[in-house]
Amino acid sequence: MHAHAAPVGAPADAFPINGTDFVEFWVGNAKQSALFYQHCLGFRLLAYAGPETGTRGRTSYVLEQGKIRLILTTALGPDDPIAHHVAVHGDGVRDIAMWVDDTASAFATAMARGAVAVQEPTVLTDEDGQVVIAAIQTYGDTIHSLVERREYRGAFLPGFASRSSEVSSPAVGLTYVDHCVGNVALGAMNRWVAFYRDVLGFSQLVSFDDKDISTEYSALMSKVMANGNGRIKFPINEPAGGKKKSQIEEYLDFYRGPGVQHLALATDDIIHAVRTLRAQGVGFLQVPGSYYDTVLDRVGTIDETLESLRDLGILVDRDDEGYLLQIFTKPVQDRPTLFFEIIQRKGAKSFGKGNFKALFEAIEREQALRGNL
Ligand code: FE2
Repeated sequence: MHAHAAPVGAPADAFPINGTDFVEFWVGNAKQSALFYQHCLGFRLLAYAGPETGTRGRTSYVLEQGKIRLILTTALGPDDPIAHHVAVHGDGVRDIAMWVDDTASAFATAMARGAVAVQEPTVLTDEDGQVVIAAIQTYGDTIHSLVERREYRGAFLPGFASRSSEVSSPAVGLTYVDHCVGNVALGAMNRWVAFYRDVLGFSQLVSFDDKDISTEYSALMSKVMANGNGRIKFPINEPAGGKKKSQIEEYLDFYRGPGVQHLALATDDIIHAVRTLRAQGVGFLQVPGSYYDTVLDRVGTIDETLESLRDLGILVDRDDEGYLLQIFTKPVQDRPTLFFEIIQRKGAKSFGKGNFKALFEAIEREQALRGNL
């Protein structure tokens, strides 16, 4: 059982998407979060919108690294939907935006197939050109914007002014969004799998059940949905039964509903990336040292030295097509909700199933420290 990027000889893409356009977070203090993403995670400031640029009531900081664009947005008053979202969920992902060639047509197709509208196609214009944007609902309060850029020449979107980081930090080398994982309620996974299949034309890549990824205490079920060109991958998790509360239930309790669990960011040099991130204060889950006693028996020969992986806590897994290196941060806000994965693929197209047991045991040690196991 392994993943393919796209079925061979598949019919014309049922919902053409070029890739991830941006990921927007709604947060309590975008100014400070922007500094975390710059100085800890190695992003650079690209653009800004706020009262100074004619946007009332909110500020947004756009950060860039490789092809990854993140937006951090905060409300300037209590009555804004952003403030309500932050009060309920804490800091979290509001929007996984997709880059399309024709927003009106993508939106009409999605609506005809049963999507729920958040924003009708809207033309945004400034002196640098025009962008057409619409949005549809996905799990919880999360949305997918559909962004058509055509010839837009500005820094980001109309309404945003170009900005750059005031202090430069060392390059981390994160390159693109590899996958975005959603946590949904018990029994809801197949509904969201059907949404991505029927509404957005995604297909299922790989599945594993709770026997594959359970520990003594907690378990989950997961299915991975990918778009036609394979550039967008959305694993969907739901909790499965265990003796105690699963990590997915802990997330759902603290996020107060379904939402994005982690974003996996790719790199071409995970050893450099993790060494730099650690030096800049990013905290990672730690697997037991015994993991490295047997890992090479499981994955065979790799290019990296075992010592460098052990020193940095990087995990390895292999599938039929190659191997991958990965590591997971601790949650990046006080609630045990969103975290990041750093991943380097060396042929493997899967998601590190062989590491799940060691990883879940590490997560459960953290859950126990929080009193949530
Ligand atoms: Fe992942």
